[in-house]
Amino acid sequence: MSASSPNSTHANEDNTNHLAIEVENLTVSYGPVPALLDVSLAIPVGQLVGVIGPNGSGKSTLIKAILGFVRPDFGTVRLFGEPADKAKGRVAYVPQRGSVDWDFPITVREVALMGRYGHRAWWRDLKAEDYRLADEALEMVRMSDFASRQIGQLSGGQQQRVFMARAMAQGADILLLDEPFAGVDAATERAILDVLERTKAAGRTLVVVHHDLTTAQEYFDSLVLLKQRLFAFGPPEAVLHPELLCEVYEGALRVFAELQKQEGAD
Ligand SMILES: Nc1ncnc2c1ncn2[C@@H]1O[C@H](COP(=O)(O)OP(=O)(O)OP(=O)(O)O)[C@@H](O)[C@H]1O
Ligand SMILES: [Mg+2]
Repeated sequence: MSASSPNSTHANEDNTNHLAIEVENLTVSYGPVPALLDVSLAIPVGQLVGVIGPNGSGKSTLIKAILGFVRPDFGTVRLFGEPADKAKGRVAYVPQRGSVDWDFPITVREVALMGRYGHRAWWRDLKAEDYRLADEALEMVRMSDFASRQIGQLSGGQQQRVFMARAMAQGADILLLDEPFAGVDAATERAILDVLERTKAAGRTLVVVHHDLTTAQEYFDSLVLLKQRLFAFGPPEAVLHPELLCEVYEGALRVFAELQKQEGAD
């Protein structure tokens, strides 16, 4: 199943095939049991894609494999039609919360500036433009007031927004976000969604791991449903099919209850 047609206004008009990410027959194992088994999908440029599936279903592993952080047993990842390692500089990543320990002293603004390091040979080479882009990114996630604060002194949700700013400052064409909405309040969730939508409107491609099935349809153009294997990839209304969810999720009754609640509210 494929998603809708690519965004013709995308900044990267050199992409002859208009596919941002192509994953083919990807199998990744950490031990004897594969975390991902024979996963294939093609994501067009300019899409906002959600990745859903229960805990341990391989969502973070898929993101890490696209980034080249884990080596596949089998299969390939191509970005903009090229082997993934050639396009590394065009990808930004916001890790799953709690996976980064910010014990060392660094300010919020410095974290946002880290998004610019890839563009310069050394941090001393940072230019006025880099500071401007980092500050704009902090503004976007509404964290400007905290710019001089140590990152370790922020709440989890605030740290999450700073990591988003770092990714935004990078100016990457592909953004991979691992559960950016986890544990944030409703206002922050709105702010993050707004940033995702603006980034998409700028022609970028976003892949976002998401847990909340009740908002998945509203937020994303297409959904990837994973549990070791790819169970579905396509428009949210097709992927959020009760039978499919029942097969993939344990505690299916809760899933049904959530969906019914949503339907009742519509
Ligand atoms: N570094 C690792 N070493 C060994 N096993 C791992 C490692 N990382 C993940 N796994 C295993 O691989 C499987 C997939 O993990 P992954 O982190 O991709 O799941 P996930 O869908 O992101 O889960 P969650 O919703 O809890 O974040 C799990 O069974 C997990 O225990
Ligand atoms: Mg995960």
